[in-house]
This record gives sequence, C-alpha cells and structure tokens, in this order.
Amino acid sequence: MKQMFCVGNWKMNPSTARDAFRLAEAIAEKTKVYTRVTTVLCPPFPFLAHLSSLSVTLGAQDCHTEQKGAFTGEVSPAMLKDQGCRYVVLGHSERGETDQMVKEKVRAAVRVGLVPIICVGEEKPGTPDVLQERLRLRLEGIPAQTLSKSIIVYEPVWAISTTKEGRGASEKDVSSALLLFHSFLEEEVGQRLGSAIPILYGGSVNEKNILSFLRAGAQGALVGGASLSPKEFGSIASSMQLYEHI
Ligand code: PGA
Repeated sequence: MKQMFCVGNWKMNPSTARDAFRLAEAIAEKTKVYTRVTTVLCPPFPFLAHLSSLSVTLGAQDCHTEQKGAFTGEVSPAMLKDQGCRYVVLGHSERGETDQMVKEKVRAAVRVGLVPIICVGEEKPGTPDVLQERLRLRLEGIPAQTLSKSIIVYEPVWAISTTKEGRGASEKDVSSALLLFHSFLEEEVGQRLGSAIPILYGGSVNEKNILSFLRAGAQGALVGGASLSPKEFGSIASSMQLYEHI
C-alpha cells in the first residue's frame, strides 16, 4: 500500500502564535495514530519555530529561489530547512507566480533537501487541453532527479473553497486529470520514476468528499479551509488511513 499525504495549508491563519500552537497540538493528537498517512502542516512563516517542539511534520507555503542575499521580505529554502521544515508548497495559485519562477524555486528547494509540493491546475472546469498545457509549462525541463523527489498536486483553481464557484471537483474530473498527470510524468522522467511520484488533489477537500478523491486515484490531499479544524482534518487523515484501494 502506498503512503498517503495529508497536507494542511493554513494560508494566512490563525492570527497568533498561541492559536497556531494549539491548532497544531490538537491536529498532532488526532493524526498520530495514522501511520500510513504523512501529515504535513504548513503554517505561516512566523509560526514555524513555535511548532518545532511538537511532533508534527512541518512544511512552508513558499520559498525564494536563492539561499541568501539581498531579497527584502523573502525566506530561503535553507532557512526553512533550518527551522525544521521538510516540505514546501510551491506555485499555489493564490500567489500568481510564473511557471519559470516556480521551476527555479523547485530546484532551490530540492538543493537543500526540502520536498517540493508543486501545485498545477487549470482556471476553468472542463478544459483538459489547458490543463495539459499548464502541466507542460510548469513541469517541463525540471530535471528527472529533481521531479522524482517532488510531490505534485492537481489543484484546479475553480475548485478552491474561497473562489467564486468554490466547489470541489467531481470524482470523474479528478480521475481524468490524474490520468493526464500520470502520463505526463511518465513521459517526462520515465515509467519507473514517474509512477513513484505522489499526485495529490487540492480544492475544497473535506471529510465528506475525501473518499471520492481517493477513489479517483489521488495519493492524498492538499487541504486549505478544512485544515483549520482538527476534527475535520483528523477525519480526512483517518479516511486516508482506512482507504484500501491502492
Ligand atoms: P481549500 O484550499 O481546501 O480551502 O479549497 C485548497 C487550496 O488552496 O489548495
């Protein structure tokens, strides 16, 4: 059975380090029994150090392309590593970054041993050609050795809970998108490496719809809004633990 990934993207929440600590502590308590699930919490940068004493796996929500230097306001992959991060979400649609920028960040993250969680998605539902092109623009040219150390997320922009439409994709949407992802990756890095790259789903994931994404073939989820509730996030992780199909 494959390892599952339950990644919580807290975005710009909560407001205080104290609340962040409590939230992470409650999530750690709920998810620690799910050995088949790698649970990753991605809080805002200022909270990373506060959470390092807890037994949670930490990720960041972004990083810079360089390890240090004159880049006001930026945070480097090396700094994240030093703060105990193991993962970093890159290219989230809310950041509006160019594909070139994302590729450089992926390389910089892998260079210090962080696992990039790379988001790729289309703006409108039912546009497979656009999705195919987005995949190519975002991932083509990343060396096979780098891509094979990454996690990819199918994150349709239209399915994110805070967007206007804000509804999760259907099982069918996700399974056909994941086929595109698998064949792209296998072509890009070869069958053996490509089939081992975890592909997750992100967009309005909650405890009620998670099973449909697992049935569609996702090896886990990038969870936004629902990752702020220990009960709901714990229940998503529990579905991953119990899911038998893979
Ligand atoms: P959501 O966020 O779960 O709140 O839709 C997911 C995402 O932004 O990837």
